[in-house]
Amino acid sequence: MKRAEDYYSKLARLKDFPARSVFKLEEMQDRFALLKAGQKVLDLGSAPGSWSQFCLQRLGPKGSLVGVDLEPANFKVLPGPKYRFLKGDIFSSEITSSLRELGPYDLVLSDAAPRTSGSGLVDAQGSLEIAWQAVEIAANTLKPGGNLVVKVFQGGEEGQLLRQIKSLFRRARAFKPKASRNKSRETYFLGLYFEAKVEKKA
Ligand SMILES: C[S@@+](CC[C@H](N)C(=O)[O-])C[C@H]1O[C@@H](n2cnc3c(N)ncnc32)[C@H](O)[C@@H]1O
Repeated sequence: MKRAEDYYSKLARLKDFPARSVFKLEEMQDRFALLKAGQKVLDLGSAPGSWSQFCLQRLGPKGSLVGVDLEPANFKVLPGPKYRFLKGDIFSSEITSSLRELGPYDLVLSDAAPRTSGSGLVDAQGSLEIAWQAVEIAANTLKPGGNLVVKVFQGGEEGQLLRQIKSLFRRARAFKPKASRNKSRETYFLGLYFEAKVEKKA
């Protein structure tokens, strides 16, 4: 049975975004001012493309964005030359080395999520593995002072990930946007102001 179109889905269609998830990012942008004109952004799990489209609209002519997903994007508005899309798996070494070459980034976003299986526990575990990988990529590609947003399904073991983010950033916190469905276990972890650790030579 087809799900009835909710308020945010309708709004996304009216505003020419491919997915309702854009309003979660908009809320985080309003609250934390993550995006600024001229920045370079990495969007992990970027399809169908509403976060990328939202960012590109705000980054201006000097900004740029790299999107990665297993699936192709489905933009409603042409993304332009400042957009680069890599089709592939964020766990593959080919993708991670390309991301390093294309960086460093001011902002790393990850809305990546596993296909839902019907088991909350399995989905939470899959989402946590993806979120750890996103944090690892961020730690290797962010500029000092850069920011991170990463989606995670709450399932009991995500506290350790938040502690890891706290160890890498000046500030870390969880945030559940209003546009996130009430029944959804998803939440977002934010790392604000990346403090790159300088390796001390022995
Ligand atoms: C909720 S959607 C992202 C929606 C996107 N932020 C938008 O606004 O259009 C989650 C995406 O994560 C992607 N994904 C899941 N696992 C991935 C992986 N290992 N590597 C790359 N993409 C992945 C899925 O293919 C899916 O397109």
